[in-house]
Order: sequence, then structure tokens, then C-alpha cells
Amino acid sequence: MRTPIVAGNWKMNKTVEEARSLVFSMSLKLREIEGVDKVLCPPFPALLAVSALLQGTDIGLGAQNLHWEESGAYTGEVAPNMVAEFCQYIIIGHSERRAYFGETDGTVNKKVHAALAHDLIPIVCVGETEDEYESKLTGEVVRRQISQGLADVDPVKAAQIIVAYEPIWAIGTGKASSGENANAVLADYIRPALTDLFGADTAQAIRIQYGGSVKGNNADEFFSQPEIDGALVGGASLKADDFVAIVQAAAK
Ligand code: PGA
Repeated sequence: MRTPIVAGNWKMNKTVEEARSLVFSMSLKLREIEGVDKVLCPPFPALLAVSALLQGTDIGLGAQNLHWEESGAYTGEVAPNMVAEFCQYIIIGHSERRAYFGETDGTVNKKVHAALAHDLIPIVCVGETEDEYESKLTGEVVRRQISQGLADVDPVKAAQIIVAYEPIWAIGTGKASSGENANAVLADYIRPALTDLFGADTAQAIRIQYGGSVKGNNADEFFSQPEIDGALVGGASLKADDFVAIVQAAAK
């Protein structure tokens, strides 16, 4: 049995003060929910403040990006050990980073290796564009993203990795995939690609989230699917009640 995991990707939202008040408004309720791993991923400037508020709770903290080098002349970048000072998780290869900031399967792979070397748990995002979906290329795209993004990862460490399947046409659009459609992508393409890389036992242990317009009122549809082990949540993670409702749905 895989423990479900729900992570809130706050993207480029919330100042430190706003981050504090969002955490205040949901942490007590989140702490009461058992049987699901919960993770908040605020922007970098809020990590220190949020990590202080989460001390002693069972709520994990993640960042949204990292560089693969240890240190050096990389203006504007954040090194893995800087992320690991505060975080247990790291989102890698989000489609917005791939679309706007030149992230490729190659850079995803370097970041995954760097994260694992610092004991950070990578949440690796994969998913097809609307054009690829309509051209029936979903399988090809996610298989490539998995096989190249997770290439040469030690199978022992691979079991901790979390994969987030996020069809790009469903992100921030209110147009969620159906539970059945998302489950089929996981069953037909993602889990088999993980099996090719790491063998069946490890592939079965890896948790796969769905992401893309998950809300309190549609979360059940996804979490009732056998292959879906939680969600990576954008917009709804900025609203305490909605995020709590999603975590509650994952705990059922
Ligand atoms: P959304 O974003 O929930 O706002 O669609 C999901 C994501 O980008 O991780």
C-alpha cells in the first residue's frame, strides 16, 4: 500500500506575511488528518518563515526549483544544500519551468540526481501539451520524460521519488482530466516506464500524483482511482478550505 501524498504548489504567490497567514489558517486542520503525507511548497523567500511554523508538525516543506551545481557563479539560482536546509521535498520539471525557463528532460535529470544526493525527495512533473494530447502522443511524451528525466537513478533511491502526472491542458484551466483518463495514463505508460527503469517492485513503490485543476469538489474522483496516490495542487492550495478538503479526500 502506498501512502497518498498531497502537495500544494503555491507557485509565485504569497509574500512572507501572506504565507504565514495561509499556514495559520490551515495547519491545525491539516495536522488532524492522518494517513496522508502533506506538503507545502511556498516560493523561496517564504521558506524560512514557513519552516519555522511547521516545526514539530507532520507537514512537510518543499521548494519549487533548485540548481544542480553545489555552488558558484549562477546568478539567481539556488543550490541543493540551500534547499535542503529547510525542505524535505523539491518540485522538479514543472511544466511552467519547462515552458518558460528552458527546462528539459536533461536538466530535470541533473536536478533529480542533485536532489537525491542531498536527501531531498523529488516531485518530478511530467505531462503532455494539449496538441500532444489531441495527436494521441501522451504515451510517447510521458514515457520519454520518465526515461530521460530519471535516467541512471540508483534503484534503491528511486523508490522515494514522487512522480506528478500533470496534463498541461489541465493546469490552471479549470479543465481537469477525468479520473479514469488520468488513471489510464499512469497504468499504461508511467508505471510501465518506471518498471523498465527500476524493476517492478520499485515501480510499484513509487507514488504517482495527479495534478491539474484538482479542487475540493473533484478530488474524490481522482483519489478513488487505484493508480493515483495523491495530488499536486496549484490554485486550490492557496485557499485553506479547498486544500484541507483535498487532503481529507486523500485520507479516505
Ligand atoms: P492547478 O496547478 O491546480 O492550478 O491546475 C497544478 C500545478 O501546476 O501543479
